Amino acid sequence: MRIFNTQNELVSHLTSVSNATTAIGFVPTMGALHDGHLSLIQEALLQNELVVVSIFVNPTQFNNAEDLAKYPRTLEKDIAKIKTVSDSIIVYAPSVEDIYKGKTVSQHFDFDGLENQMEGRFRPGHFDGVGTIVKRLFEIVKPTHAYFGEKDFQQLLIVKKMVAKNKIPVNVIGCPIFREANGLAMSSRNERLSEKERNEAAIIYKTLKEAKHLFATKSAQEVAEFVTRTFADQKEFELEYFQIADETTLQPCIRKNKAKKYRAFIAVFVNNIRLIDTISLN
Ligand code: PAF
Repeated sequence: MRIFNTQNELVSHLTSVSNATTAIGFVPTMGALHDGHLSLIQEALLQNELVVVSIFVNPTQFNNAEDLAKYPRTLEKDIAKIKTVSDSIIVYAPSVEDIYKGKTVSQHFDFDGLENQMEGRFRPGHFDGVGTIVKRLFEIVKPTHAYFGEKDFQQLLIVKKMVAKNKIPVNVIGCPIFREANGLAMSSRNERLSEKERNEAAIIYKTLKEAKHLFATKSAQEVAEFVTRTFADQKEFELEYFQIADETTLQPCIRKNKAKKYRAFIAVFVNNIRLIDTISLN
């Protein structure tokens, strides 16, 4: 396994081991790797000759300083986990300086309105930060395929939009959500939950599944009311948003249209730790 901390070293290594036809798979991460990340790496290994994994907690996508400070940083453990999948992975773990060169600011993007819904509404500037880092990483790694988990479904659409608008030659692939045995979506933030909170957080996916069931016969408004009532009864949990949206435009569902695909999105705080999840509804 090769580990690089600077883009110069990474690029010179990639140049020496690839040519114009080498398929390079790329899995961008912020570390604190879990089985969901490892499944992305496995998928990348199946489809590419070289696989690069980046580990970088990107400051510009955090709108909350405490969230950034508390984000788990577990580089040694992450490297050990990657090794269990394959010893051939190329890891890029840069410093903030290597990425931002003294100017730790986001570029501003227009994602055709995708950025104004849900995560974008509650985390101002978040998607400018995501767009900035993903674009920069794509420019450095020049991947053929890049892999993103569907838990961050809005992020996945935004990255696809950024790639299309900037004509970046990379195939962006969404991969299924990995869940704990109790249904909780795997997330690096789960590391911060106590065992009790982790067990209780099963309610998030359980509620999404009930919402899916209800959506077959009820309006989006009625389903949202059910979810709001469910979390009002849970004093450990604070519902930030629940939204049923068009899976392509992310516009909220006001009146159901049989021709459209819908998805439910949720963000919940458990003791100040923010968890998100999503489910396809039809
Ligand atoms: O999903 C994440 O972990 C991050 O948003 C990403 C894509 C690695 C960019 O920092």
